[in-house]
Amino acid sequence: MSLVAAIVINLFSIVVSVVVVIITYIKWRHQYWSRRRIPFLVPSIPFGNLQNPAKKRYSIGFHIKNLYDEAKRKGLKHCGLYFFASPIYLVVDLDYLKNITTKDFQHFVDRGMYYNEKSDPISAHLFAIGGSRWKNLRTKLTPTFTSGKMKMMFPTLIECVSLLMEAVEREQVQIDVKELLGRFTTDIIGSCAFGLDCNSIKEENSPFRIYGKKVFTSSRMRTLKMTLASSFPNLGRLFGVRQVSSEISNFFRNIVKETIEYREKNNFSRPDFMQLLIDLKNENKGYSLNLDEVVAQSFIFFLAGFETSSTTMTFTLYELAKNEEIQETLRKEIFRVLQKHDGKITYEGINEMKYLNQVIDESLRKYPPVPFVTRTCVKDYKIPDVDAVIQKGRRVIVPILALHYDEEYYPDPYKFDPDRFNEENKQMRNPYAYIPFGEGPRICIGMRFGLMQTKVGLVALLQKYRFKVNPRTSDPLRMSSNSFILSAEGGIWLDSEKL
Ligand code: HEM
Ligand SMILES: *[C@@H]1O[C@H](CO)[C@@H](O)[C@H](O)[C@H]1NC(C)=O
Ligand SMILES: *[C@@H]1O[C@H](CO)[C@@H](O)[C@H](O)[C@H]1NC(C)=O
Repeated sequence: MSLVAAIVINLFSIVVSVVVVIITYIKWRHQYWSRRRIPFLVPSIPFGNLQNPAKKRYSIGFHIKNLYDEAKRKGLKHCGLYFFASPIYLVVDLDYLKNITTKDFQHFVDRGMYYNEKSDPISAHLFAIGGSRWKNLRTKLTPTFTSGKMKMMFPTLIECVSLLMEAVEREQVQIDVKELLGRFTTDIIGSCAFGLDCNSIKEENSPFRIYGKKVFTSSRMRTLKMTLASSFPNLGRLFGVRQVSSEISNFFRNIVKETIEYREKNNFSRPDFMQLLIDLKNENKGYSLNLDEVVAQSFIFFLAGFETSSTTMTFTLYELAKNEEIQETLRKEIFRVLQKHDGKITYEGINEMKYLNQVIDESLRKYPPVPFVTRTCVKDYKIPDVDAVIQKGRRVIVPILALHYDEEYYPDPYKFDPDRFNEENKQMRNPYAYIPFGEGPRICIGMRFGLMQTKVGLVALLQKYRFKVNPRTSDPLRMSSNSFILSAEGGIWLDSEKL
């Protein structure tokens, strides 16, 4: 036998052995739930209950919905899943959900997201950190989001409206709504979280917008590194794996640094998130923020704030364009309330619009921008009523979108019907069946702000324009399988008609 053949045969047997070892390992890991007497959905090798990444058909939210529906058909109140070899716990029953997110929250304080404070301080933000550090920071930041503070920032939002209106005026038909509204919310968050004047980010190619988009477009290599780092966080930290590239984090760090320096030198102050963070930094008593922590928080306000809200506005406008009657009913309410307020969009006026609330609630039901969230168990949790334990370190999935499409709570779930959220119907439903902002002590901290900017944008647009669906929008909508935030494949295109 020639040397070459011997080498080939040897290599072949090594490869085969490695594959056999991996498969055996995964099979062994896939016994996790049966050993713990928790029902589970049968996993495949090697992806577990995930979709084969090479032929993904569903967005992650709808994939989890399929798993949830399967569990529900089997009459399960909860079940075990596997993401590759890693066991994940899926909550189905609303009482379990209430206990995990609220009553027994102290067992599930963490999200279990990878971050690396040492080599990547911008990743150590409120969304990612856990334990007592999260608790301290959350307590510090909560006063930043009261209704008093929202009212203070309202004029800054109104400043950004005129740019939005100019853009609609320019484009008129076949408007890429997501892009249009993404610019609007970038302006607002850039303004409130970084203290930039929205006119300075007006141009299509402003660095702020470019870097803002870059954060959401991750290279394959980084995605792979992040997936590995989330499964093995200590290894990730050891090798200094970063979540945010240094180019991006330097950009945001410099903006914050310059803004702080400018404000401190010129004794300048403005009612915005940035100022509230600066005040926290300068606080002397107890725990104050350092520069890196300020940068991380303004960064997460930006990330969590602009895409979610522009997504909400986009899907709302789409449904209004499809349902003319609902659009007209809403417009009547807008006219009626604005008239009471001298034709001006005011904080009080916005909050008087009841039907607007219902429309946005229904839109967030049908299109929750964040289709699921996770918790990580931080100390063993004996599930009450059942002889089973969720172990420390296990990740839990809260299936937001799946709950929102459950026929038990929402008959005819694909129908857009704002009446589901009138007072009477709302009262009759378990509140845990509607959680677009999450639930419990880790609920979205920016909910008020997100709703406020969504309302301001919609009112401004509907006051001046009627919207219709442009044929470029695919019908029915398909949700992109590549993006975590819910988004329509091919975009949403609308035509506007000046009133
Ligand atoms: C319509 C708009 C928005 C939606 C649908 C949304 C949704 C969510 C959801 C589902 C969570 C996870 C909650 C949980 O785990 O229970 C979250 C967390 C968070 N959101 Fe929002 N969000 C929106 C707007 C905003 C805005 C405008 C900001 C900031 C200005 C913001 C900042 C945050 C932060 C910092 C967290 C982490 C909270 C923590 O872990 O303590 N969000 N959001
Ligand atoms: C800064 O402005 C505040 C009020 O706007 C004033 O009370 C304070 O004395 C000023 N400080 C300096 C150093 O000018
Ligand atoms: C929820 O938690 C409470 C108290 O911890 C417990 O009494 C109750 O049985 C739990 N409910 C379910 C459905 O597990």
